[in-house]
Amino acid sequence: MQPSDRPAEVAVPHAVAELVRSGADIAVLTGAGMSRESGISTFREAQTGLWERFDPEEIASVDAWSQDNALVWGWYLWRAHVARRADPNDGHIALAELASSRSVSIVTQNVDDLHERAGSRVAAHLHGSLFAPRCEHCGTPYLGSDAEIRVRDGEEPSPELRVDPPTCMHCLSLVRPGIVWFGEPLPVDAWGRAEAAVLAADVVLVVGTSNLVYPAARLPETALEAGIPVIEINPEVTPLSRHASVTWRATAATALPALVAAINAGAARP
Ligand code: APR
Repeated sequence: MQPSDRPAEVAVPHAVAELVRSGADIAVLTGAGMSRESGISTFREAQTGLWERFDPEEIASVDAWSQDNALVWGWYLWRAHVARRADPNDGHIALAELASSRSVSIVTQNVDDLHERAGSRVAAHLHGSLFAPRCEHCGTPYLGSDAEIRVRDGEEPSPELRVDPPTCMHCLSLVRPGIVWFGEPLPVDAWGRAEAAVLAADVVLVVGTSNLVYPAARLPETALEAGIPVIEINPEVTPLSRHASVTWRATAATALPALVAAINAGAARP
């Protein structure tokens, strides 16, 4: 049963339905809120759950890696373990369904693989991926099986896990997480694809991001400056809210299936 088969749980703002229904090219910028209903905590919610022990801005950094690479490597193994156990939510699935009727380019700040597991093709992972460790010296992707936590049934690995990072099979340098850390530049190719997706769009959906971290937060501004409508889907207000063409106070897993259902219903209209 597709989530969009379900009656819409929330009313879809008319402007949102019209902008997306009439759009041939949709760019979707997603953040941690997109994965929240899959059980993965966001970054900036109260220091609970996923971030109870560490402030991401401290541990997701080059300094943390140089000071204690075993703690950082173990933390990312744990985050990958959490992400693997999560399932795509109805919002991820709705975006994959939307792509069956129009071009949908997903640009995500998320490092999980839930969009891909829902069936979407992701145009750019702006902040990298939990599942792309690489040599910190030669950049060779690391494919070793020890790049994931082995847990016995019922065992719950701790976010304070310390695991010595493996070494590169080619140059014996350290293998690092495939994540863009605070202070590091975004991958040039990913950024280029993200900007191209936004500028080619008829409408940009911004889902589940606080719009606080640049340069990712620049993308909706780029769209607005180019006269491209921007729709924000977020239960909370963000710095984008007062500039967005439409703000829809709803969550990803309720808004997106309702939106797709509304479009399908409209499409079915004679
Ligand atoms: N549906 C939609 N949005 C949600 C939901 C939900 N179910 N739950 C929370 N949100 C919203 C919050 O209101 C918030 O605006 O998602 C946003 C999450 O914001 P952050 O935690 O700041 O996550 P994000 O915007 O992705 O952070 C950007 O910061 O820490 C770095 O690299 C990290 O990629 C991350 C970047």
